[in-house]
Amino acid sequence: MKFFVDSADLEAISELADIGLVDGVTTNPSIIAKSGRNFKDVIKEICALTPGHVSAEVVATQAEQMIEEGRHLRKIAENVCVKLPLTLDGLKACSTLSREGTPTNVTLCFSANQALLAAKCGASYISPFIGRLDDIALDGLELIEDIRTIYDNYGFETEILAASIRNVNHVKDCALVGADVMTAPPAVIKSLASHVLTDKGLAAFLKDWENTGQTIL
Ligand code: G3P
Repeated sequence: MKFFVDSADLEAISELADIGLVDGVTTNPSIIAKSGRNFKDVIKEICALTPGHVSAEVVATQAEQMIEEGRHLRKIAENVCVKLPLTLDGLKACSTLSREGTPTNVTLCFSANQALLAAKCGASYISPFIGRLDDIALDGLELIEDIRTIYDNYGFETEILAASIRNVNHVKDCALVGADVMTAPPAVIKSLASHVLTDKGLAAFLKDWENTGQTIL
């Protein structure tokens, strides 16, 4: 499972990259607004932190303008992936940009039929938002399972990029159903390492070691 960081926080991305936990980064207009940074500057800086795809989302709503924005974003760095909303215009832009060899991430996916369209339009990634489905008492993981089944039935190469990940259980559940990628905020990724019994066990090891009076170095 690839780990993408859902953030424009350069320090947080760097910290996780230093551990080896960053296979890519996703952003969206809200994340960019929250960063308070110039969009193209921060995307360029993020692209220098990881060789993996960095999703930068268009803001146009008409296909021709989406394509123009996507081509412009693509020039920022070799690993820019153009993010497009799952609308008919977004799908048309996805088809064109994908044919040009531009990596594409079709986002704001909330149904299996939407994901089927994105795959038919050559999307590199599909981003189903599981947290936002859970927010309205629908089953986000069921959507991932359905997309996995459909993509495997027909050999679609589009990668399932589980998004809107809110907690560690989302990560585990996405891994169990076979999502190719998950993208999560830095705090969720870091909390994957936490367990009370690990902390308790390590404290006991170190206490017993201290009692030996020995050192390793
Ligand atoms: O990548 C999509 C993600 O940023 C959306 O997350 O928590 O706003 O649903 P959330």
